[in-house]
Amino acid sequence: MNEDLRAHLEFFEELGIDGVRLEPEWRSRGEKTAPEPAPDPVPLFHSEKDALKTIREDLGDCTRCKLHTLGRKQIVFGVGNPDADLMFVGEAPGADEDIQGEPFVGRAGQLLTKIIEAIGLGREDVYIANVIKCRPPGNRNPEPDEVEQCEPFLFRQIDNVKPKVIVALGKFAAQCLLRTNDPITRIRGREFKYRDAILIPTYHPAYLLRTPSAKREVWEDMKRVRAILNDED
Ligand code: URA
Repeated sequence: MNEDLRAHLEFFEELGIDGVRLEPEWRSRGEKTAPEPAPDPVPLFHSEKDALKTIREDLGDCTRCKLHTLGRKQIVFGVGNPDADLMFVGEAPGADEDIQGEPFVGRAGQLLTKIIEAIGLGREDVYIANVIKCRPPGNRNPEPDEVEQCEPFLFRQIDNVKPKVIVALGKFAAQCLLRTNDPITRIRGREFKYRDAILIPTYHPAYLLRTPSAKREVWEDMKRVRAILNDED
């Protein structure tokens, strides 16, 4: 053994190496290998929940209409099951919703919760949103330029939740979704094909607080909703 090789082996011995392997697979150990290819990009919309998150991000800290200068505290996007079969659409946040950031949490909202429970569901089972995401000052009616800027976000919410049934709460939501000026008394009690859903217009819970006798008609509407959801129609 030549001196150089002896010195090398003694040095390895000092390092605790007491032998070498000659099998081919050991010879390639430590060789640099090509880096693993990057994984395929994650699809943008891999669930309804992620899609809704993206829509909320697109809405951002919205300044598209004048409502952001008129005292809104926060944007009220939507709440509930992103995969719901049943979706409720109201008009716009009121004072309580503006504070809490969630649709239908005030007195009208508490009545809506009871309406939902009356057909055996909970708020967590359905999806709830409004046409307008910011509170109009003094709860005035939303104006056409505000609707024009905001409704595309509602349409995207509907298209991603893909409910079987949409309940339009009150004249404003029903007229906006159905593109009609017909009064709610004319369109309530009827069903409309809307995007991939069946749209049922009914009275707004705030109207029911003022006119409790109208609860009977809303109950009729909700029985119809339940029948459609249970495939009993
Ligand atoms: N009225 C609505 O139309 N929406 C709400 O979120 C609250 C009250």
